Amino acid sequence: MTTFVPPHMPDISSGNPTARRFAGKDCVISGAGSGIGRAIALRLAAEGARVAILDINTDAADETLEMCGGSGRGLALSIDVRSETSVAAAADAVRQHFGGVDVLVNNAGIEILGTIDETAPEVWDEVMAVNLRGPYLTSRVFLPQLLQRADTKGGAAIVHNASLMGLVSSAGLAAYCASKAGVVSLTRSMALDYASRNLRVNCVCPGIIHTPMLERRFDLQPDRDAAYRTMAMRPPVHYIGRPEDVAASVAYLAADEARFVTGSALTIDGGVGAA
Ligand SMILES: NC(=O)c1ccc[n+]([C@@H]2O[C@H](COP(=O)([O-])OP(=O)(O)OC[C@H]3O[C@@H](n4cnc5c(N)ncnc54)[C@H](O)[C@@H]3O)[C@@H](O)[C@H]2O)c1
Repeated sequence: MTTFVPPHMPDISSGNPTARRFAGKDCVISGAGSGIGRAIALRLAAEGARVAILDINTDAADETLEMCGGSGRGLALSIDVRSETSVAAAADAVRQHFGGVDVLVNNAGIEILGTIDETAPEVWDEVMAVNLRGPYLTSRVFLPQLLQRADTKGGAAIVHNASLMGLVSSAGLAAYCASKAGVVSLTRSMALDYASRNLRVNCVCPGIIHTPMLERRFDLQPDRDAAYRTMAMRPPVHYIGRPEDVAASVAYLAADEARFVTGSALTIDGGVGAA
């Protein structure tokens, strides 16, 4: 992968080594076998969490768990967020292993390019099934475990990974943008519905982040380095964000210090959305 970190950037990959905001907390992260989800798992584990790494790619989930410290740090589970049976099986395994859930991060997602005339109905349905129905279904299935922790410990949190594309739009990305706008709306509905139960619900809205998902976009270009440079010039800060930039914001929203924050959509985009 082409990588570029401006020389003035501090290294935040291992977080604040003195912060232990998730000691004694059990956190579930979907799509944690790659990219942003993996960075979130690493960040929460580095801050003391036990982590349940959920991904449709079982090998990738296992690899993330190893990176987090192995089976002493949690468990890796195969899951398809499109399937209620699959999510329910994962929730059962998490209950047996952890006994409950303090933090759920709905991160699994797919990106399929296209205007609506280029997007067949089954492709539209697929994007919605993973990106919008997935967070709904996973939240619904894990809700009893989250509410139980919220009751006994005074709080629990859900963080959805939406996108800047849920707040603004981009040409040629119709289904993806619509799905992510749905996630932003779902965040607000859920925040209102569960505020009185001490369950906070927020979402992050990343801009351009350097992950395998973005690499797949570069793969479609005839000159991937030129495509990278063009993309890097798009944010006002003139570089592409990294998974740990999103992980740091997810950790903040999931931590007790954000106790008064619910229903928010936090942009992590190097200023793109400000224009
Ligand atoms: N990379 C970006 O620029 C960017 C920007 C904004 C938002 N996001 C969002 O961040 C999230 C993570 O994206 P990423 O860039 O890390 O992508 P990625 O492709 O690197 O990782 C996505 C992960 O989700 C998993 N996944 C896909 N379908 C699944 C399913 N049905 N069930 C369970 N797991 C499934 C994949 O196996 C993969 O491990 C996505 O929701 C994406 O829309 C990414």
